[in-house]
Amino acid sequence: MNEMQILVIDYGSQYTLIIGRILRELGVRSIILPPKKVNKYLEKNNPKAVILSGSNWSVHNDGSPNLPESLDITGKKYFILGICYGMQLLAHKLGGTVERPLAHREYGPTEVALDINQSLFKNVSEKTEVWASHGDTVISLPEGFISIGSSSGITAMKNEDDTIFGIQFHPEVVDTKEGKKIFQNFLEISHCEKDWNGEDLIREIQKEVLEIVDRKENKGNVILGVSGGVDSTTLASILAPVLGERLVCVGINTGGFRKDEILELKINTESAGVKNLVIIDAEEEFIKNIGTTIDGEEKRGKFRDVYKRIFEEQIAKYNAGFIVQGTLATDIIESGKAGESAMIKTHHNVGLSWEVEDLHPFRNLFKYEVRELARIMNLPKAVYERNPFPGPGLFLRVIGIPVSKENIDLVREADKTVNDILVKYDLVKDISQLIVGLLGINSVGVKGDERVYGHSLIIRAVQTADFMTAKGYYFREEVVNEITNALTKHKDIVRVFFDMTPKPPATTEFE
Ligand code: XMP
Repeated sequence: MNEMQILVIDYGSQYTLIIGRILRELGVRSIILPPKKVNKYLEKNNPKAVILSGSNWSVHNDGSPNLPESLDITGKKYFILGICYGMQLLAHKLGGTVERPLAHREYGPTEVALDINQSLFKNVSEKTEVWASHGDTVISLPEGFISIGSSSGITAMKNEDDTIFGIQFHPEVVDTKEGKKIFQNFLEISHCEKDWNGEDLIREIQKEVLEIVDRKENKGNVILGVSGGVDSTTLASILAPVLGERLVCVGINTGGFRKDEILELKINTESAGVKNLVIIDAEEEFIKNIGTTIDGEEKRGKFRDVYKRIFEEQIAKYNAGFIVQGTLATDIIESGKAGESAMIKTHHNVGLSWEVEDLHPFRNLFKYEVRELARIMNLPKAVYERNPFPGPGLFLRVIGIPVSKENIDLVREADKTVNDILVKYDLVKDISQLIVGLLGINSVGVKGDERVYGHSLIIRAVQTADFMTAKGYYFREEVVNEITNALTKHKDIVRVFFDMTPKPPATTEFE
């Protein structure tokens, strides 16, 4: 495998892994490292280009992350692109000034004016909408630099040799309309060639896993947790041909699945070519354990405990030396386990400690990439087009009241009802994920001539490319009415709410 052409230094922004994803979409692989690991990396590697990510830090804060000492910022060794904090850090270190003028705080969609004669902005519009998220701003440039873009301050800069660039906004966020072109331009400027494709990646994953599980001292079966979703099914299909009988797929019926999902799990895992599939029925245990818990993070904690215990039993039963999971980059970032980024939610299967070695072969991949791998593996369309669904499932969708079998059944039926309406109106393809939640706040209503005092359901549909940011989907009136009428037929449901809040500030799920 060739050396990575691009090094991305991760200063902790929630968006850093998206940089890697976009480079991959453009056909180029990259390595993402926190600043403290860069010195060692640069001892043995010579990237063509280095990208410095954004961060929540200010360069003026005590303890703010610095440039690694061995990083050459003369612009003679490699091309450099600083994004947001990355630009501020470069400007600050090279003799410019970075300040936090109160009036200059930019957050969200922002219009910027770019100098389109510059190679970095080739084919980009002169005025374009970008995603900004910064308090600090570069006020004066280092010597030898010029401004190549502006909004309420200097929005982009470059040095005389066209080897060091800085941009204040986030080209990696989908809301930056022409962000991908900017990355494409940077790849051309730094002479990076295409070196990423799905077939290679599949072979690499098979090789990586085989190398680990074939190490002599560690032999044994390999347990893979499957949910029937795109990630675990695709991973199963990639590993089944190389592991054969050694691969034991374990699906747990947690009681939090949507209607008919256990059946789909069996069908999908079979289509992945898996020889050994074990289904464990643990519905009662999960409901009993999570039952009275209201707080989302506590629920995840309790879910994880039962999940872990069941897997440990299976590891012992099948004499497994390894556990493999289809955890994605997004799950790892939001669990705060990726480089420097902040914890948003613990994911149920990230950061668990096992007695056997655990492997996450998809740890650097995003959903869209896994869908691509699923297509290459010839999995059915029902797998690669499937909506994501969280591991703790419907447990996260009973909100503000204890989770009982009755509540879960109610939300499961409601989810099915809404899904059927979306199918009827052919809306499934427009929505990245649908969430139907049961809200445990009672309110007054009237049914027939009677006063009722009951719960509400909340509907949230989002559109997103990567789940790091998302937009709320607006249903048209007839769909809203049909959903509302169908759901309020239930005797205990008084109201239906619709939630269109984007992420950020909301998240996809309610908890
Ligand atoms: P959020 O709510 O963090 O969700 O914007 C992003 C994506 O991740 C899913 N999600 C989870 N998946 N375990 C999972 O396996 C979890 O604990 C979990 N929490 C959120 C969510 O459904 C969405 O697709």
